[in-house]
Amino acid sequence: MTDSNQPLHKGPLTNHPITENFADWSHLVDGRKFLEQLTRHAYRVCHYSSVIDNYNTFHKHFGHRGTIHFAVKASAEPFVLKTLIALDAGFEIATYSELRLLIECGLPKDKIGKKVNFGQTQKERSDIKKALRDGVRNFATDNIHDIRIITEAAGQQQMNKKDIRLQIRLFNAAGSSSGEGFSQSFNKRYGVDNDQAMQLAESIVATGMTVAGFTFHPGSGSDSPALWDYGVHSAARLTRRMKEELGITITELNLSGGFAPSVPIEQYSTHILSLIESAYKEAGAELPASIDTEPGRWLVANAEVLIGKVSNIKINRDGTRIVTMTTGVSENGTLTDLGLDFDFFILENGKARKLEKRAELRGNLHGRACADFDVIAENTPVPAELHPDNPIADDVFVVIHGAGAYSHYMERNFWCGITPPMKMNYDEFRNCITSEINYQRAIINSYAERSGLPLKNAMTFITNTTDRKLGQIKGSEIARILDDPELLNKLGLHILTSVAEFVHTNSPSKD
Ligand SMILES: Cc1ncc(COP(=O)(O)O)c(C=O)c1O
Repeated sequence: MTDSNQPLHKGPLTNHPITENFADWSHLVDGRKFLEQLTRHAYRVCHYSSVIDNYNTFHKHFGHRGTIHFAVKASAEPFVLKTLIALDAGFEIATYSELRLLIECGLPKDKIGKKVNFGQTQKERSDIKKALRDGVRNFATDNIHDIRIITEAAGQQQMNKKDIRLQIRLFNAAGSSSGEGFSQSFNKRYGVDNDQAMQLAESIVATGMTVAGFTFHPGSGSDSPALWDYGVHSAARLTRRMKEELGITITELNLSGGFAPSVPIEQYSTHILSLIESAYKEAGAELPASIDTEPGRWLVANAEVLIGKVSNIKINRDGTRIVTMTTGVSENGTLTDLGLDFDFFILENGKARKLEKRAELRGNLHGRACADFDVIAENTPVPAELHPDNPIADDVFVVIHGAGAYSHYMERNFWCGITPPMKMNYDEFRNCITSEINYQRAIINSYAERSGLPLKNAMTFITNTTDRKLGQIKGSEIARILDDPELLNKLGLHILTSVAEFVHTNSPSKD
């Protein structure tokens, strides 16, 4: 665990007990058995308490300036949400469903108005209605349609419009795409230039709502603090313009997310907070009373690692090693080459040994679906042992760091017949990686999570109906079924249809 009083020389990305206690678990692994398991499914090894360290470290550097809103899209794991609620964090949501998750995890209703930002600028009307009804008062926006439907919804609920605070989302760079260095072309969809921002501000004032501030997002995994420069300068100039031309006092600047977990957070705070001082001074603008943030990836990336086995290595003409593994995007949605890192291990005499990555050897890492977009990293350094002629090349397994962010609720069910990764805590992994009980727990957790329902309800429903509908499969024998492809497929289909049935019979009526 990190001591948050010590200066960090690297970000938290690879801080996980898998790396820190390597000697410990690598000697406990029964190599052959572990590899056999990895041929059937990948592992997700969780360490959710790291979120506490991450939040405290982040808070030390940004918390004195404003609210830290965790971007729920990065992880909807209930333990993560409950932990952050207990730490009095704020939250950024992109849909009303994310607010529901927060409420179910214990976010008190009287905190919603202060602690929740609705960060998606292009919203569904029914989401706006329900969010307002439940107390959300802070919304990001970048278009007139959104402003119109927020106004209408607030009118229908007879709210005091002044209490509704809008942050205008600005471009993160010049031009209509984000340009070089940015990980995403957010400007193609999000944000406005300063002249458009002035027009939106006039429209907001005309509705009676409050123009509270500005926000912009430089792209997830932005490893250079300088990527915030353009947005900070725009916000500073706009703050002065709005005061002079429209008489609006802007009080907030929301730096949004994008912080790369490979980079220590103080590198961002040192650069960006002093830039705000100088840019606002230079623009002749009043400093924002509150400087908020919306980190997603930085807070949760190291809360999970994913472990897969290497299945195949092909070398392309240009020397690129095409590495196919038992896990990839096929099971993990957005786990693409943003903010990930990789450790490779080989099994020797049944024990794990970490391999050295070689900067001059480059590989593309793929999952086992038959699709070129099942690619988890491109042009990443790989060890020399990953060579098709190496007789033990497929005894290599990979630990994928950063899998705690933007992965688990995107997992695919049985695409290409692939069994989803098994989820377990580090202690379970370490102590009893080969035990049947952990298989059972892992598979139940994995499926319950896919259902998006409270674990207990979903599993009661599934196990009750398993015995009845499938005869030969008992819910309590799920581990045994992993070895029987026929039963496994039956169970998989049953779980998917059960979840659909459960949702159908239990979903609350629409309003
Ligand atoms: C509005 C908003 N805020 C915050 C985030 C979180 O970004 P990250 O996980 O890169 O910190 C996102 C991610 O896309 C976002 O769209």
